[in-house]
Amino acid sequence: MNSLLLKKVLLGLSLSTVLLLAGEQFSMSEADKAMYEELKENNPADMNVEEGMELFEELGDEAALAKFLEVDEKKLAEYIAGFPRYITKMGNVVGLDQVLQVMQMEEGGKKDALSSESMINLLAYVRSLANDLPINIDIKENKEMEASHALGEKLYLEERGYRGLSCNSCHSLPGTILRTQILPEMGAQNTGGTWPAYRMTLSEVVTLQERSRTCMRDAGQAPLPLGSKEMIALEVYITNLAKNNKHQIEIPGLKR
Ligand code: HEC
Repeated sequence: MNSLLLKKVLLGLSLSTVLLLAGEQFSMSEADKAMYEELKENNPADMNVEEGMELFEELGDEAALAKFLEVDEKKLAEYIAGFPRYITKMGNVVGLDQVLQVMQMEEGGKKDALSSESMINLLAYVRSLANDLPINIDIKENKEMEASHALGEKLYLEERGYRGLSCNSCHSLPGTILRTQILPEMGAQNTGGTWPAYRMTLSEVVTLQERSRTCMRDAGQAPLPLGSKEMIALEVYITNLAKNNKHQIEIPGLKR
């Protein structure tokens, strides 16, 4: 990153934010590193995925999901590797969790909130059906996907909030060091393919959207609502970065 931008990023953060981030996410102590290595062998989120599997069995099965999505069951995993997608009958570009919500509504007239643990577990399981497949989001598939990607790119680059920071201020910068922390370049590190993920600092499983909301708050931006057009657009953009880096779906992720 050029030094002017770096200065802006550093000045943008109040001291208290830097300290908070330093404790929370900017540093990984030796003990944390050891824990990370250990958890990689045995990700606590595997339990959530299992719970999600049970919830999914109650909701239907792969055949029911394939039918809902109007795809051949044999192509279901591949199709899942392409979300967020434009779903004609929903009239929107949506996340996989929003599809599951509609299935829940059709089945029992009730749906789990996007922020609920049950929905996060369900999402983690259903997305894991596409594990080891290449991310295949197609931002050219139709005009809705094109528009969503364009909006996501705009939001990613736009400076928002009183600190004047964009996502790109911090995240476009491979290998840049902000105080001692190497900032993650989202495409290179497969951000689009690794959430829901277990966050060691929170001891819980979090979605990409919820993780992004944490960054928005830290950066002094009003967090976008889960499942909103804007949030989905950001997810489309971030997922496409991972696709451009030829990544695969790897659920559940393990993160600081
Ligand atoms: C002030 C710098 C800063 C800004 C601005 C920022 N982030 Fe972050 N972001 C970080 C840091 C630091 C991490 C975590 C690094 C770590 O723990 O490895 C992170 C992590 C993430 C992750 C998880 C990446 C992964 O796969 O591990 C996502 C998703 C994310 N940010 C989304 C966003 C979005 C969306 C925006 C814009 C709305 C944004 N961030 C703005 C600093 C920032």
